[in-house]
Formats: sequence, structure tokens, C-alpha cells
Amino acid sequence: MSTAVIVLAAGKGTRMKSNTPKVLHKVARRAMLGHVIDAGQGAHPDKTVVVISNTDVENYVTETFPNNTVCIQQTEQLGTAHAVLAAYEELKDIDGDILILCGDVPLLNAHTIEQFMTSHHSQNNAVTFMSVFTEDPTGLGRVLRDQNDEVCAIVEHKDATEEERKIDEINTGIYIARANVLWDILNQVENNNAQGEYYITDLISLGLKAGHLVGTYTAEDAEALSGVNSRLQLACMEDMYQNAKREYYMDNGVTFIDPQSVYFAFDTNIAQDVEVGPNVQIDSGVIIESGVYIEGNCYLKDTTVQTGAVIKSFSHIDGANIGKGASVGPHARLRPGANLKTSSKVGSFVEVKNSTLGEKSSAGHLSYIGDATIGNAVNIGAGTVVANYDGANKHKTNIGDNVFIGSGTTLVAPVNIGAGATTAANSIITKDVAAGTLVLSKVIRQDRTDFTRPTKNK
Ligand code: UD1
Ligand code: CA
Repeated sequence: MSTAVIVLAAGKGTRMKSNTPKVLHKVARRAMLGHVIDAGQGAHPDKTVVVISNTDVENYVTETFPNNTVCIQQTEQLGTAHAVLAAYEELKDIDGDILILCGDVPLLNAHTIEQFMTSHHSQNNAVTFMSVFTEDPTGLGRVLRDQNDEVCAIVEHKDATEEERKIDEINTGIYIARANVLWDILNQVENNNAQGEYYITDLISLGLKAGHLVGTYTAEDAEALSGVNSRLQLACMEDMYQNAKREYYMDNGVTFIDPQSVYFAFDTNIAQDVEVGPNVQIDSGVIIESGVYIEGNCYLKDTTVQTGAVIKSFSHIDGANIGKGASVGPHARLRPGANLKTSSKVGSFVEVKNSTLGEKSSAGHLSYIGDATIGNAVNIGAGTVVANYDGANKHKTNIGDNVFIGSGTTLVAPVNIGAGATTAANSIITKDVAAGTLVLSKVIRQDRTDFTRPTKNK
């Protein structure tokens, strides 16, 4: 039997006060919608349909989830039942279950979905929805039960009586239903309610009326399953997510000097025996191998840090590969394509872009290295600049093994420095240097006595 997931993401989310659609706001550097689509994979769907109204959302989905995931436009937002029906054409051949999720519940995960599905199947229900007990049910749909504690309906806050509003069991907006029952019942939903909308929540009362088995799955973690409607709620979700990650990494052998000040992305991967100082932000695409030490106040993105490397304070690292035992910083800037080989060193106020620094090579102080390939055991003196840009195009620089670049050298690319060559301090290298040679290009020193300093005009 085939299974599908529908993610509702066509709502405007006006309370975010943003030009960005609500579901594209991020938790742990990933759009909320991305977390939800990923969680839906817990249902092992043959297809995922995202109901949208915005092209930015569509672009995000097609770029991020290229397989088995499609977007369907809901041109008018007439309510959640109307939104689900928008997916009918795309899913009319599904003969198993359809899971329905909302795009603004970023802490939902595949594990919760698996438990929900298991409950649905073991109760042999036609329709199951997920409820939670919450301290503040304001604004949410309340779960109505009869004297036998059997669920009979969901009533929206705006439609609820004073008495019903006291109910603290609420609808999370997560449903699973047999496809044929879903389509059949949704076509019966009307909009005679306080908001004049077609509510998917009518699936419960109408399903029961039609004689189907309808049940609930009551989840534990109410906070994690609540939707995000405001920036404050977004920040609360971020906080919960980060705290869970901190605990997870500590349980797996990572030391944080100040856990509360370290932030992770959804895909951060940290091995055992890594130590991280205070105020470190890890953006998406970072892998940190065992034995790495990251001092405080660093930023990392799209980077692999190999075993035993050290990153010293105030380093900004994006798109780099930091080899085994390499040392970076303090105050280093590694930009995309920076590839530091084993035991190499990039020191203070050094910027590296699209360049390889060979094994045991070192650029210790105040340098810019761009579009260069540097061999092994090379010393790049303080203040060296690779002039890789002529104002129109970028050019390559190649430096062989065991080269010594004297302090203050300017390498005007394109240029090749042969293995074992030496450039004297302050050299300007505009032409290739042969292996093993010494280049002196500075102005010959003159000690003049016929010189007076200019004086200020009266
Ligand atoms: C909904 C439930 C409520 C539940 C709450 C949980 C209904 C009628 N009510 O209320 O019982 O407690 O979620 O968070 O379903 N959407 C569309 N198209 C539309 C309308 C909505 O795609 O025409 C999407 C929204 O983008 C959102 C989701 O559906 O992702 C839920 O809609 P929303 O308006 O937020 O419903 P709530 O009032 O929160
Ligand atoms: Ca909502």
C-alpha cells in the first residue's frame, strides 16, 4: 500500500511581521518547513506534497528536497480542509494512509511520527490525530470527549464555549487518515463557523458520524509540538532545540566550557573528545572530528575540522577543510576553498581563500593568500600578500615545497615559485622564480645627507 505526507504551508503567518514566509524562518539554521518535511520521512512516504501559496517556498522545497516531493498551489487560503483538498489530484492514487502536518512545527521529528503511526495502526483507526495537554491552550483547537472519554470532536478556540475553553487537551494539527476516508469526509466539510473557513478538524466529528474508527495519540512533549506564530515562539523553539543538542553532544563525549553559549545547526556533527570554548556559533555543514579544540568566539560554516586540529579564538571559518593537527588563529579568516593540510598553520590576521596550504606549511601573521597552491614545509613570512586580482580577473599562484617567502613579499599572480626558492623581505615578485634561487627585488639602500623633511606651508 502506498503512503503520502501532506505538509500545510500556504498560510501567511502575518504575526511574524516579515517579508519572508513564516515556514522559511529558521530553527538551527534550517527552515522550519525543512524540519517538518524531514520529520514526515518517518512515515516512509511514497510522495510528499507541500501545499503552498508563495514561490519562495516552492523554490526552497524544490531545491532542498528534489526527490518525491512536490508543491501544490492553494490560490486562496480558505482553511486547512481546503488546503488538504488542494493535494487531491496529486495523491488520488494513494491507497494507504495520508499523514498531514503543518509547516510551522519545527521540533517535530521522525521518531515522534513513527510512534504516532504505530499507534494509528495498532488502534486500527481510519483517522487518528495527535493531541497534547498544555498549560495554556489559548487559540488552539480543544479536544472534546464523551463520558466514556472517547473523542467526539475538535472545537476551535473561536467557536468554543466558555466551558469548552477550559479543556486543556489540544489538537496539535497532526493527523493520519486512510486516503479514501480522508477524501470522502473532506468533501463534506462546510465553512459555517466563526472564521468562515473549511476546517480539517471537522474530520473527527464527520468521520465518527460516518461510522469510522477515530482515535487520538497523546504525545508527551507539548512544548515541542506547538506551532510557531511569532518571533518570540520562534526564539523559544530555537532555545529548546539548542538545549537538546547540547545535552546530546555532552552525552556523547563533547566538553563545553559554557554549553549555553554554543550554538549548532541542524546538521552539525561533532565527534567524541572535542572541546569547545564559550561563544561559538556553528552554522550548517560542519563536521568536527575527535580531539579538536575550538577556543571561544569562533564561527564555523561548511567546514570539516580533522582530528586534533586547534582553532584559536576569534576565527571566522567558512567553506574550509582543516587538516589533522592543523592550527588556525587567533583572528584567522578562512574563506571557501581554504584547504589546510596536516599540521599546517594559519596564524593571526591571516586570510585564506580558495588556496591549499601544504603539510607543515605555515602562514603565521598578517597575510592574504588567495587562489594559491602552496606545497609542503613552506614558510609564508609576516605580511605576505598574494595579489591575485588584477582589477578584472583572478590569477593563480603556485609555490613549491620548502619555499621561504620573506616578510612583506607581494606575489603578483599569475606566478610560480619553484621548490626551495627564497624571496627576500619586501620583494615584489612579478615573474616566475626558479627552484632553489634567492630573489632580492627591493630598492637598494641609500643613506643620504642632502635630504630635509618638507615643512608645513604657512
Ligand atoms: C490549527 C487547527 C487547530 C490546532 C492548531 C495547532 C484548524 C481549523 N485548526 O489551527 O485545531 O490546535 O492548528 O497548531 O485546522 N494553512 C494552509 N491553508 C489555509 C489555512 C492554513 O495551508 O487555507 C496552513 C497554515 O500555513 C498552517 C496550517 O495550515 O501551516 C495551520 O493553519 P493555521 O491557520 O495556523 O491554523 P490554526 O489556527 O493554528
Ligand atoms: Ca498555527
